Formats: sequence, C-alpha cells, structure tokens
Amino acid sequence: MSRTDDLLARSLAAVWHPCTQMKTHETLPLVPIVRGEGAWLIDAQGRRLMDGISSWWVNLFGHCNPRINAALRAQLETLEHAMLAGFTHAPVVELSERLSALTGHRLGHAFYASDGASATEIALKMSVHYWRNAGQPGKTRFLSLAGSYHGETVGALAVTDVPVFRDAYAPLVRAGDTVPCPDARRVREGETPAELAHHAADLLEAHLEAHHEGIAALIVEPLVQGAAGMVMYDPEYLRLARALCDRYRVHLIADEIAVGCGRTGTFFACEQAGIWPDFLCLSKGISGGYLPLSLVLTTDEVYAAFYHDDAARGFLHSHSYTGNPLACRAALATLDIFAEDDVLAANQVRAAALRQAMDAAFADHPAVRHLRSRGMILAFDVDGAGPGFAGRFFSAALTQGVLLRPIGHTVYFMPPYIVDAAEIDHLMRGARAALDEALA
Ligand SMILES: Cc1ncc(COP(=O)(O)O)c(C=O)c1O
Repeated sequence: MSRTDDLLARSLAAVWHPCTQMKTHETLPLVPIVRGEGAWLIDAQGRRLMDGISSWWVNLFGHCNPRINAALRAQLETLEHAMLAGFTHAPVVELSERLSALTGHRLGHAFYASDGASATEIALKMSVHYWRNAGQPGKTRFLSLAGSYHGETVGALAVTDVPVFRDAYAPLVRAGDTVPCPDARRVREGETPAELAHHAADLLEAHLEAHHEGIAALIVEPLVQGAAGMVMYDPEYLRLARALCDRYRVHLIADEIAVGCGRTGTFFACEQAGIWPDFLCLSKGISGGYLPLSLVLTTDEVYAAFYHDDAARGFLHSHSYTGNPLACRAALATLDIFAEDDVLAANQVRAAALRQAMDAAFADHPAVRHLRSRGMILAFDVDGAGPGFAGRFFSAALTQGVLLRPIGHTVYFMPPYIVDAAEIDHLMRGARAALDEALA
C-alpha cells in the first residue's frame, strides 16, 4: 500500500468528514492535500488544483500567504492564547477598533467566537436578550428569507431554511418564519430587480405588521444567499428591510459570514445599500482563511442595554477560544493587506475580468441559464443537470485541475482575491470542460 493510499484508508477509518454521506467515499476517493500555494492546492501526487471556491469561501489572499504567515510566526513567539474573560490583549483590541472604524463606528462593539454558526447563535441570543432587558420579553421569534443559510448548530438551524440540513433535527429546532427572498432570477418581463425587491418588501411588511410584537429580529444574508445556490438580489431590498425593521421595532441581523470582507465588492455587503444592521456577523474570510474566527459587531445602543449592576442582564455567553490572539493576528494581517494593496479597487478589475471570462466560456452553452455575478461571486444554473450533477461536475473539474463544487444545479466561482489572467483562464476552461463532461 502506498503512503497516500494508507493515509486515505486511515482518514476513512478515523475522520468523520463534514457535509458528507461517508458511504459516497466507497466510489469517490478523498483528495489528500499536502501543500497550498497561492490560489492552488497540491495533492499527494503533485497534482495542482486551482481553488475556485476559496476552500469553502474562507481564503482571501491565497494559501500560505507570506504576509499572513509572517504575522502568525511573530504572534506565536509572544502569545498563543489567553482567556478573554477578565483579560485582554493587543490583537483583540486592535482588531475590534479597526472593525469598528470600518463601520464608521456605527457598530463599535465586537463579541468573538470561532465558527460562523456560533456568530449566528450570538446575534440571535443578543437580540432576544436585548428585548428582555428592554422590557419586551415577548419578542423571541426570528424571521429569515426563504432558502436562508445561517449555520447548522441547533440555534442557527432555526433560521436556516434548507431541509436537507434541518429536517432530521426538526424535533430539536424552534424554526422561525420565512418571507420570500427577492431572487433577481424571478423578475418578470419588463420588471427590474429593484421593483421585484419592492414586491418582496411588501410581503415582509405584511408579516411584520401582523407579528412584530413576537419578533426579535430579521436575519438576512445581504445581497447573496450563498448556500441556496448564489441567489442574488437587489440592494434596494436591504434598504426597505432596514426601514421596516425600524418602523416595527425589530432588529436587523446581517449575516456577512460569506459575503463580508470584500466578497461582493465592498468590504461589507450592506454598504451597497447604504445601511447598517443592528448586528453584523463575520467569519470565514476575516482570518484570511487561516484560523477559525467569528464575531458579531453591534451598536452602542445594544451594548448599553446589557451594561448594568445586575450580572444576569449581561451577555454571559462564552467560548474557550473567544478572541484567540493567533486568529486575531491573522485577521489584522488580512486587514493590512486590504489597506496596503487597495484590494477593493483591484478586485473591481479582477471581478470584471472574471465576469468577462465566465460569459465568454458559458454564454453560448445551451444548458446554461442565469449567468450572474456580484463582485467576486459568479454563478450560473444548469438546465437539465439531472441527479448527481454536482458530484459528476466536481470529479470532472478535478481532472481539469480545478476545485469547484456546484450546489445542486448551480455552478459557482468564488476564487481568492489574487487570481491573475492566466489563472482565470485555467478556471473557466476547466469549468467548461467539466460542464460538458458532467452533461455527457
Ligand atoms: C451565510 C452563512 N452563515 C453562516 C455560515 C456558517 O459558518 P460555519 O460553517 O463557519 O459555521 C455559513 C457557512 O457557509 C454561511 O455561508
């Protein structure tokens, strides 16, 4: 048995892989990754795979980025971790200050955790606890958009509208209500995505009017619903939702775990609507894709509602690794790269090149529908994809040296913010060949 085969066998025996029916690995081999280099992952055979989805949307500036590596090495020499209750340290303070500044100090208080779902849980709990502290203990329910995904812990599943993730745990989950998503693909002849957003907002208003007394918060994935299949909608909806939440005294939670950190073109997706939420969740890209880090940013008003002599009015939530210095240092190095390289401006050019290359590769394909993009997220749907399409496409893409994982019949691209013209060409050529093979 080769060393690689041995590793794969040991992985299957000892590691329970995420988001996987493990039996599929009887026919679909695991891919043993030994090294990362820029936009590329290199497997045990030396095969180079271009990471077209930034390793589950986390990597921003490439694998083994020398600047983030150096920052982490330096941090390792001084402090690896210290508990954050009763203690503090420079990386967590500096990161909180810089994130507050990025919101124009509208969201000036940062609460930390590790994974995205934990940030969702924190925002939901903070919202309900705020209303309780504010003398409205009846506001305990949540509203989300149809097809929403906010993580898979039991609390987050309450606002995750994806049956395959939720149904098995239905007895544990206190599911919230949903209102329609203003999915821009649904525009009718002569209608604009902004007009469609108004119709969806009318339905939101009707729901809030009837139920606002029991609702703590509306939670949204601003501009793009990722796990639903890169469903994109007009910023107008966020403006309208913000105004309705104000009118009906309901919090707005922006889950920017996937769409934050420049993914949609602005640092925060909400900026494109000119609004700020009451809670903003960040994770994934904030550490450059290096370490688990998530956080919730919120307002002075929310913070003040917890500030009291009574301990029970405080937000007593905690995780052992809250504010881990290494993760915060990786985040600071990530923010440094944004500032030093003017990444958002460079990404405008990169996003346009990606869009042009995607259109050139797919616009003429008879099975391709709804080519769409928002910043560094690009997608299209495949007509007649048939059962098993995503798996067939994934395997075909690997043989082309490209890592892409369609969601159902939606093929999407979410590459790191460093891809150059040659890499964009490789990505789109590989995807086109994979599509043809998966449909053959
Ligand atoms: C919008 C959104 N919210 C929450 C999460 C959950 O994050 P995590 O997988 O780190 O728990 C994800 C993950 O894909 C996400 O896309």
